[in-house]
Amino acid sequence: MKNYLLLLALLCSGIMLQSCTKDPDNGNNTNNTIEGLNLPATPFNYANPSLPNYLTAPPIAGQLNTPANNPVTNYGATLGRVLFYDTNLSRNNTKSCASCHQQAFSFSDPDQFSTGFEGGLTGRNSMSLLNAAYYPNGRFFWDERAASAEAQASGPITHPVEMGMTMPELVTKLQAVDYYKPLFKDAFGSEQIDSAGIVRALAQFVRSIVSYQTKYDAGRAAFPPNQNPGQVNFTNFTPQENQGKQLFFGVAGCARCHGTETFTAPGARNNGLDLVFADNGVGEATGNAALNGLFKTPSLRGIELSAPYMHDGRFATLEEVVEHYSTGVKNHPNLSIELRTPNGAPRNLNLNADEKTALVAFLKTLTDTGIANDPKFSSPF
Ligand code: HEC
Ligand code: HEC
Repeated sequence: MKNYLLLLALLCSGIMLQSCTKDPDNGNNTNNTIEGLNLPATPFNYANPSLPNYLTAPPIAGQLNTPANNPVTNYGATLGRVLFYDTNLSRNNTKSCASCHQQAFSFSDPDQFSTGFEGGLTGRNSMSLLNAAYYPNGRFFWDERAASAEAQASGPITHPVEMGMTMPELVTKLQAVDYYKPLFKDAFGSEQIDSAGIVRALAQFVRSIVSYQTKYDAGRAAFPPNQNPGQVNFTNFTPQENQGKQLFFGVAGCARCHGTETFTAPGARNNGLDLVFADNGVGEATGNAALNGLFKTPSLRGIELSAPYMHDGRFATLEEVVEHYSTGVKNHPNLSIELRTPNGAPRNLNLNADEKTALVAFLKTLTDTGIANDPKFSSPF
């Protein structure tokens, strides 16, 4: 069966060759001529989404981790989108990035651990990719071991459990897939397929996944960028959602780490999950025990759809997450200061039932059903 599919793929790429080798310099998008790919005649707008003013004003604009030498372009992100959904990226053509980062689940995986190309399981829960561009220190993975999205992108491709390739093998493989030549030409000006182009395009696509059309945003838009969202009531919110928002930005202190409109922190933190961690996160990656138990503080945008939660997917629901901050914060020696009382004890919130429900209701206002269905982030196959 696999051989038959391979044969079919080879046959198809032979047919595609004629339509794909048109002069891509004629000023027209060549994408629409690529058989087998469902791409629009004019590329989607990835480069300049109409972001609300509070995402383009400082300090949020300064959080962007897009490097000067790899801005998001419409053709670059289009190539990234094709790569992201292409099972050619795995050794046995069974897994694409989207296998573990599914659009309907904020580009994460509903399974606690994801299944790699040969059936093995990943060691951590897959991460949501929403607003990853706004993580200020620009580091990626739960343990922040990748210094950029570009450095991250080859990680899953070459991972022995996830996709099992080497970058040189992948380059050779993609050179034989005809739709990549025009896509590379459009994205980077040359039909040459190389590993730098692959990771740049994937990073562009990942950074283009920006959520800004939630119920939260609809309420936020009525106020100036410098307004503290915790100090006003949003007119489109229920009283319960406003209560949750007030807690989040106020006494519950969530915004000390998941701060501002991108709901990320300046860096990794220890949020008191365990007294002794089976996985030490940043401490393990750096060999620095003072960083044991620290993990990337992920954006909470789209959080309702990205269950289960935490680096090991230990919590199935948002209610369980809120219960953790209410009664479960452990006194690990590296517990972050934002979760300590002034005298240094773990700061458990001891929320009442109404407050817990309100916090969860607020977190659900960060759900972006638009992004979960937007064709520009969907499979082009
Ligand atoms: C087999 C499942 C699997 C596949 C395939 C996979 N990922 Fe992941 N991804 C994960 C897991 C699990 C993590 C968290 C790993 C860790 O932190 O150690 C992750 C983390 C990430 C992150 C970090 C997000 C952040 O905010 O730090 C990005 C970006 C990402 N993946 C993109 C990709 C891309 C691009 C591809 C395809 C080239 C891909 N992934 C393929 C499972 C997968
Ligand atoms: C000390 C900083 C800090 C504070 C304060 C904090 N968090 Fe977190 N939060 C984190 C870190 C770090 C993680 C990831 C931990 C891990 O996976 O090991 C996290 C994870 C989460 C997750 C799961 C994210 C995912 O993608 O799996 C949710 C939901 C969450 N926090 C909500 C909240 C809420 C609600 C509050 C307030 C009650 C809060 N946090 C307060 C640092 C913090």
